[in-house]
Amino acid sequence: MAAAAAAGVAPVRARYLTSKDRFHAYLKAQGASGNEKASQEDEEEDSVSNDQTEPPAKRVRLDDPVKEGESQEDAEEAGREEKEPVERKRARGQNKSRPCMKPNHYEKSRLCPSVTQGCAEKCYFGSRCRFLHDIDEYMAVKPADLGQNCVLFETFGKCIYGVTCRFAQAHLGDGYQNVINMDLAKQWEGKSLVRNNLSKDLQHQLRKKKFSFEKADEYLRRLAKPHGNGGKGNKASGNPTEGQEVPNCTAPEEDPGDAPEHPVLPEEGKDPKPAALESSCLMDALEGSPIKTMGPVTDEDIIKLRPCEKKKLEIQGKLYLAPLTTCGNLPFRRICKRFGADVTCGEMAVCTNLLQGQSSEWALLKRHHTEDIFGVQLEGAFPDTMTKCAELLNKTIEVDFVDINVGCPIDLIYKKGGGCALMTRSNKFEQIVRGMNLVLDVPLTVKIRTGVQEKINVAHKIIPKIREWGASMVTLHGRSREQRYTKVADWDYIAECAKIASPMPLFGNGDILSYEDANRAVQMGVSGIMIARGALIKPWIFTEIKEQRHWDISSSERFDILKDFTNYGLEHWGSDTQGVEKTRKFLLEWLSFLCRYIPVGLLEHLPQKINERPPYYMGRDYVETLMASQNVDDWIKISELLLGPVPTSFTFLPKHKANSYR
Ligand SMILES: Cc1cc2nc3c(=O)[nH]c(=O)nc-3n(C[C@H](O)[C@H](O)[C@H](O)COP(=O)(O)O)c2cc1C
Ligand SMILES: [Zn+2]
Ligand SMILES: [Zn+2]
Repeated sequence: MAAAAAAGVAPVRARYLTSKDRFHAYLKAQGASGNEKASQEDEEEDSVSNDQTEPPAKRVRLDDPVKEGESQEDAEEAGREEKEPVERKRARGQNKSRPCMKPNHYEKSRLCPSVTQGCAEKCYFGSRCRFLHDIDEYMAVKPADLGQNCVLFETFGKCIYGVTCRFAQAHLGDGYQNVINMDLAKQWEGKSLVRNNLSKDLQHQLRKKKFSFEKADEYLRRLAKPHGNGGKGNKASGNPTEGQEVPNCTAPEEDPGDAPEHPVLPEEGKDPKPAALESSCLMDALEGSPIKTMGPVTDEDIIKLRPCEKKKLEIQGKLYLAPLTTCGNLPFRRICKRFGADVTCGEMAVCTNLLQGQSSEWALLKRHHTEDIFGVQLEGAFPDTMTKCAELLNKTIEVDFVDINVGCPIDLIYKKGGGCALMTRSNKFEQIVRGMNLVLDVPLTVKIRTGVQEKINVAHKIIPKIREWGASMVTLHGRSREQRYTKVADWDYIAECAKIASPMPLFGNGDILSYEDANRAVQMGVSGIMIARGALIKPWIFTEIKEQRHWDISSSERFDILKDFTNYGLEHWGSDTQGVEKTRKFLLEWLSFLCRYIPVGLLEHLPQKINERPPYYMGRDYVETLMASQNVDDWIKISELLLGPVPTSFTFLPKHKANSYR
């Protein structure tokens, strides 16, 4: 697995190779000349060496591997951009100049939601409302429909976007009346297809700080007691505002490598246990608490609190689709489920944002009914916010596990002590794991890296502690924070850690793009594998692994996958302008990965490796060539084939800038 070091060029058969200019000229001609032309050109192109065809932007990447790594993982980073205003201030990389792309900015005149919902007279804002209330007026300026069929109407018999739907002609009757197919609509009545929605009531409670966190509070009280925790680091929060902001945004407090034996850890088999452990495994902490005020908590629930009796996470040997900020949205996960992903996880959610009831953060917890083994991933730096958040989710959403992101490398989170900085703050890390584990009925899992610094692996030291603290599973991404994506994942080290973790399951993660990669990974003794970029580049990788084959998937099959994604997107984000443009944005983000796929039939030898750059090549047909383009304008073209023309003044700069060169 840990073979090839530096990234080479993928071995595309010579007859498919072409030059940058010819590649783009062909696409510009809209593929009018057809496939024959492409293969004729191939003959001439045989002399074109990889060197000549190497995209200039990628050449730079080779010279400067650190930059490449940064840009790759800016994906994770930039993914947070829109949600957290603070992050927008970051002035790193070209994404800082990313234009504001709020979808509603494409719509000058929007119809008031009160009208769409058929109760215009009840518009809450009255005369101050800035939206239109007259349907005729709205229809006069509404942009043309994007298609004749509305996927929502066709699927559910009803399109809740009514006149604002960009496919509204499919369901508008006389006087713009929204037609409903009663028979079909009835079939869906009462069925909840997406779970884990944030109710207005809960949002209100959170905003007014009315939600009660009995279990977390009890745990945090115990943590604050002077003898409770080895007499050190007892404050659950980094500051009085409960960890929302760390005043001193400096480096993490402890040193990773040579940290002395942890003060909190009990020596094997010896008493006394740390208070946190007592409160989780022994009943006294809970029996002492005012159970009557705990709402609908039964004895059974209390007993469940003991991590020793927690439900086991049955995911041995399963294929786990990694949490993926921005790209791992619900429509994408539905695609991966169809192709055989067993376990799915929501995009990383920031615990403090969830505690504040932020809708955009709660959206990351949504679960499609096809996601049968589903978890959510949390990020945070302090025991109080993380434990409270775990209790909040335990009471309000349905998940099979909760994962802590202790692998996140991005500066903003790292500097606050979250993400992989937690690997160097084992005191806080322990308090977080124990606290969350105590309040959760479902298993707690932890995703880590090899360490922070490139040559200093620390995972093997931390894993036994994580097991001790009560986590049910660890996922190890075989790279350090400093490495980002510059080197291959260290699977020998992952194997070592899997042994150390036993009997706790350990999932291995890094660089899997083929069933051979997957087989090698499994042979390293891990309990299962997690796949991230491999799924973005080719979501059918799960099928390939399960069926142990290379799938030479045709361009039309691939195009159909994109069609399904856009339909899922319209269902999820909406079929009005806002929803369409959101769908387009996430499609474009995904396309920046998809273009790295090289069709099986074009390769000189199999399989494609994740660290190899695709050269310029001609596909076997126009669409195959189009989908190989790394040019953002071609991705936009693909989006237009699926979602109609982009609005005027449309701009898109992918979060993964490494892939957006022309
Ligand atoms: C676009 C993108 C978004 C990611 N978002 C997350 C995330 O939200 N949480 C997380 O733990 N890891 C995230 N990662 C890291 C992956 O889960 C995974 O650990 C890493 O990409 C290595 O696996 P791979 O070699 O299969 O890509 C992200 C990676 C990418 C490429
Ligand atoms: Zn209004
Ligand atoms: Zn519709």
